[in-house]
Amino acid sequence: MHQDARGHAVALSNPAALDAYERALYALQTYRGDPLAPLDEAIGLDAGFAASYATKALILATFFERRFMRDALAALDQGRDALARGTQREQALAAAARRIAEGAWHEGARMLDRILAEHPRDIVALQAAHLMDFYRGDALNLRNRVSRVLPSWSASVPGYAYVLGMHAFGFEECNQYPEAERAGRRAVALSEDDAWAVHAVAHVMEMQGRIEEGIDWYRETRHVWAGGDNGFAFHNAWHVALFHMDRAEYVPALEIFDARLAGGGEMALVRVDATALLWRLRLEGVDVSARFGAVADGWERALEDESGFYAFNDFHAAMAFAAAGRREALTRLRLALARATSRAGSNAEMTLAVGLGVCEAAIDFCEERFAAAAEKLAGVRDVANRFGGSHAQRDLLTLTLIEAARRAGLPRLARHYAAERLVHKPASAWGRRLVERIDAPQARRAA
Ligand SMILES: [Fe+2]
Repeated sequence: MHQDARGHAVALSNPAALDAYERALYALQTYRGDPLAPLDEAIGLDAGFAASYATKALILATFFERRFMRDALAALDQGRDALARGTQREQALAAAARRIAEGAWHEGARMLDRILAEHPRDIVALQAAHLMDFYRGDALNLRNRVSRVLPSWSASVPGYAYVLGMHAFGFEECNQYPEAERAGRRAVALSEDDAWAVHAVAHVMEMQGRIEEGIDWYRETRHVWAGGDNGFAFHNAWHVALFHMDRAEYVPALEIFDARLAGGGEMALVRVDATALLWRLRLEGVDVSARFGAVADGWERALEDESGFYAFNDFHAAMAFAAAGRREALTRLRLALARATSRAGSNAEMTLAVGLGVCEAAIDFCEERFAAAAEKLAGVRDVANRFGGSHAQRDLLTLTLIEAARRAGLPRLARHYAAERLVHKPASAWGRRLVERIDAPQARRAA
């Protein structure tokens, strides 16, 4: 039987298909190019190559939109005969992909972990599970799942750097910043093409308020993350914009929005970042109404199909609709959220625990019910990891809470939450700016 580059038996008859498969995994690991095209090529070369179908399904599923879940199920149907003759590992990958595509996200992640127990070098299972940990806000497993397989890896195994890059992000989400930075820098040094590791180190700098270093880091590593074929470049660019936001440099932040985020309206992941950046700019008093209108258009186009699929996305749609004054879209979104709470699958609990509250808070904020917005955000902020995303992304909840409290005439409450930032990010200008604004009540309405 043939083996892949990490030593797993693979069911196939044409070895040329394996080359295409490994190219797909490289694209997956580096976020460079389209990983699906070489998988289709592999299937074209050998229709019996079971791993290609399972991998395709997992990649589609971890794009994390309802439409791609349907595509993932179609890939599994397409490969039914091949998978029936596949190895136990290949069948297990397919089974995990199916459960994720059906909405059982926690169960799917556990199934991937069982594969890793048997095959700790299964990079497809590891990366898919890592992304599922991110979407599910499972910080411990972002770190520990990688820790569990790390003893089976070394620099001599192809793809080791990307495992370190995942470990770096896991450490960061567990607030272990020195460990995160060490692993991330090592990954970048080993691979020179690990955009996920670059991102992990940038997260450390973001969380520690090392703004100058963050901008320098992204400048030094542009060759790793910024290329036109890099599917993750939009998100790294978003982090660069956040660093500029900290320094109140709104023009470069808007330039990044226009260059990297405005045109990505057909992908939910890009719409999330576009919305989050505009919302931060809006909180800072920058007029972004026209841009918000365009982003709200993107959410509206996806509303019928995607609303109620993932609470984290729904929250960003709610912000865009509320900021753009789309009342009808908000009504439809609210109905979708209500339906989501009674549907089978992991998102119902996410919506109940976090999604409903933060969506209503965003609407309250835009309709100037600031005390109500602050109340709702204070209620869910500390459990908001349960609807996914990173600390840096969920920081938007705290920024909104502070501004809502300030505008509600609750300066003590606003200062209370701003204090976290001053302590955790002592070199950051954003925290000081927030406190100055809270302490200048006569200026607050002009902002
Ligand atoms: Fe990030």
